[in-house]
Amino acid sequence: MRRQKDLIHDNRMWDMIRSKLGNELDRVVEIGTRHGHWAMGLLKNFNVRQLLCVDIWPRRRRFGRDATMWLQNLEEWRFKTVFPLRGMSSEWARVLPYNDFHLTFVDGCHRGHMVLEDLELWWPKTRIGGLVLCHDAHEVDVREAVPKFFVGRPETPVLFNSGPTKVKSYWVIKEAD
Ligand SMILES: C[S@@+](CC[C@H](N)C(=O)[O-])C[C@H]1O[C@@H](n2cnc3c(N)ncnc32)[C@H](O)[C@@H]1O
Repeated sequence: MRRQKDLIHDNRMWDMIRSKLGNELDRVVEIGTRHGHWAMGLLKNFNVRQLLCVDIWPRRRRFGRDATMWLQNLEEWRFKTVFPLRGMSSEWARVLPYNDFHLTFVDGCHRGHMVLEDLELWWPKTRIGGLVLCHDAHEVDVREAVPKFFVGRPETPVLFNSGPTKVKSYWVIKEAD
């Protein structure tokens, strides 16, 4: 059986976030949450005012199981601090009235064009000085799509090792234009 830390990351992720943003996080969004493991880790390690977790949670294959696990894992915080938003990332990006996300965690579909779409939609909704994290950069599509998005922008995505195995991520702090 795989251990949870092998699925996601260990304290390196939290240390990195803390070094950029401190311990108090205002509004956070997670694109692709599945069972809520990252959300759970974040809530255990930071003071978070509001965390929105987006996922399509596909109905046919595993909606019941995934949603049940998400609700169980986040029982302590659900509907108080953390809120599930079921549906496409692109649809939620268009309707949510917030442009002030302190931390944006991109971990939805890992195909290149979808990673680019998520960055195009959620980058403008992240505040200046906010942090965007793109997970699973060990996957070729993710590894290539993220730098592509930042060509011509002042920010440079930085790779970091966010886990004990091969799980790597990018981080980018949003600068003023
Ligand atoms: C790698 S898993 C997320 C894992 C989670 N972030 C964690 O660390 O525990 C990717 C999730 O993204 C969701 N997803 C894929 N494409 C999506 C889209 N277009 N909009 C919303 N969610 C999507 C999938 O249903 C899946 O649950």
